Amino acid sequence: MNKITIAIDGYSSTGKSTIAKQIAKTLDYIYVDSGAMYRAVTLYAIEKRLITENNFYKEALISQLNNIELSFQFNKNLGYAEVYLNGQNVEHKIRTLQVSGFVSTIAAVPEVRQKLVVIQKKIGEDKGVVMDGRDIGTVVFPNAELKIFMTASAEKRAKRRYDELKQRGDNITYEAVLKNVTERDYIDTNREDSPLVKAEDAIEIDNSNLTLDEQFNKVLSLVKLTLENYE
Ligand code: CDP
Repeated sequence: MNKITIAIDGYSSTGKSTIAKQIAKTLDYIYVDSGAMYRAVTLYAIEKRLITENNFYKEALISQLNNIELSFQFNKNLGYAEVYLNGQNVEHKIRTLQVSGFVSTIAAVPEVRQKLVVIQKKIGEDKGVVMDGRDIGTVVFPNAELKIFMTASAEKRAKRRYDELKQRGDNITYEAVLKNVTERDYIDTNREDSPLVKAEDAIEIDNSNLTLDEQFNKVLSLVKLTLENYE
């Protein structure tokens, strides 16, 4: 069967990675969390003190981009690939609210985007990939056979992310998560390079009131339709 490319974009914490993982598993496709790559670069910048509450040494980060090596390694127990930064598994570390607080600033740097988009395009060159992010349907895979754009109310999104972070033991408040979600949406939508925007040919799904099963079935039927038309 011919393989397609599936691009899933949308606002922060819309559950893109949940649906992307489910679909990739069902189709036996590769799942790539492009946000994890921006988060890993952000973690690097935090650890090297290139970004703090008061300063962002952008030029220093740009000059060190060649020192940042990112890779994905499939974790059989989890059923998806985890991100590695210079050989270290950073899957847990990149999900903190601290990283979320800086990631949109880092992701607005064109040199960072260029580096990551090259890697993303390379991973997807043989198709059979589900990738989620902000610019996948517009910049990374503008020819993707299926593009989905996920939305949900900011409150629903913040609640979901808050529950997720609480469950892993992070000490955070709902208000802080809501603030981060809305701030990131603002920066991601308004940045100059590859802003978050719905691709013209993307199908929008508002999952504010959908259960995980409903969402899965909806996307799976779109996938099936796309595959039928693609044969
Ligand atoms: O928290 P959530 O899962 O919604 O976000 P993410 O997918 O982990 O992405 C984190 C941040 O990385 C976003 O807020 C964007 O600033 C940036 N990003 C991007 O600019 N382009 C992408 N393709 C993916 C993420």
